[in-house]
Amino acid sequence: MKKRIKVSAPGKLMLFGEHSVIYGKPCIVTAVDQRIRVNIGSSDNKYLKISAPQVNLDNYIESIDNLGRSDAPAGSRFVSLAVKNFFDYYKTGFGLKVTTESDFSSKFGFGSSSAVTVATIKALSQFTNSNLDNDQIFELSYKTVLDVQGVGSGFDVASAVWGGTIYYIKGKKTKGTLKHMKLPLIVGYTGIKADTPTLVRQVADLYQKDKKRVNSVFGSISAIVEESKKAILGRDLKKLGMLMNENQQLLKYLGVSSPELDKLIGASLKAGAYGAKLSGAGGGDCMIAVVPPDKLRLVGREIERQGGIVLAVKTQAQGVRVEKI
Ligand code: PMV
Repeated sequence: MKKRIKVSAPGKLMLFGEHSVIYGKPCIVTAVDQRIRVNIGSSDNKYLKISAPQVNLDNYIESIDNLGRSDAPAGSRFVSLAVKNFFDYYKTGFGLKVTTESDFSSKFGFGSSSAVTVATIKALSQFTNSNLDNDQIFELSYKTVLDVQGVGSGFDVASAVWGGTIYYIKGKKTKGTLKHMKLPLIVGYTGIKADTPTLVRQVADLYQKDKKRVNSVFGSISAIVEESKKAILGRDLKKLGMLMNENQQLLKYLGVSSPELDKLIGASLKAGAYGAKLSGAGGGDCMIAVVPPDKLRLVGREIERQGGIVLAVKTQAQGVRVEKI
């Protein structure tokens, strides 16, 4: 067992295909250069100690025989269930101290939960010299996210593991990242935290009410994802913008946009963006716009004038990795 390990994993931005990805359709997600770091060291007794300032945890302690209790603080559950699932997988258990740091607020919807889970599993693998491969890290992390949240396609977990930009289908192996040139994207935060499980359930209710129509929306989103893959690889920005607008209309139809998202999306289009859409579950969090490179500033200013916060992120970041201590 190593003495101390530090691992980081990236946050993510959904580019195309949110919601329909839950129903087996493809999506495209890119990893961002805002990362979460997890430090692991041993602890003398059979306790897990977690310090995670970004979710207000200061030396929170749980017995390793009782990890991930449902009454534990929400901020601890991804780490403690990741530890539990790792221990169960290897039929082991020992005292641990886990400290996390984040480049970004968990409010943005950049996937802090999946990133911290993936980084914890990878750190445990390194710490115990188990050398899990990326597929195994994905499986254990995805199980952990489902244990905590109950819902999710795993696209955010895949993004944290593999990084880059990926075309993802639930349950299918990710076949490498899409190699593409940098895209001129703007990310605008609405200032409102979205609750992903609630929005996923809302779409599920709509689906139950009108399967035929909602299935046809998912089919159209799926076609947009296929087209956008080509547009990303060919760096066809105008086409990409058009596809974003179409995807946004379908998301509105599913009822997951919000007045704040619509306002920032409208502002960016007015200022010259090729296209814009919400990114993630909707209801708040962030919107993205693809913008002519010479209009990036103008569009950013317009988003801020409408009350949004422009987040400077770079896309196609590296997936989970070990960091020097
Ligand atoms: O809210 P986020 O960024 O976790 O994105 C949710 C995307 C969904 O398709 C709605 C859910 C999922 O797990 O795929």
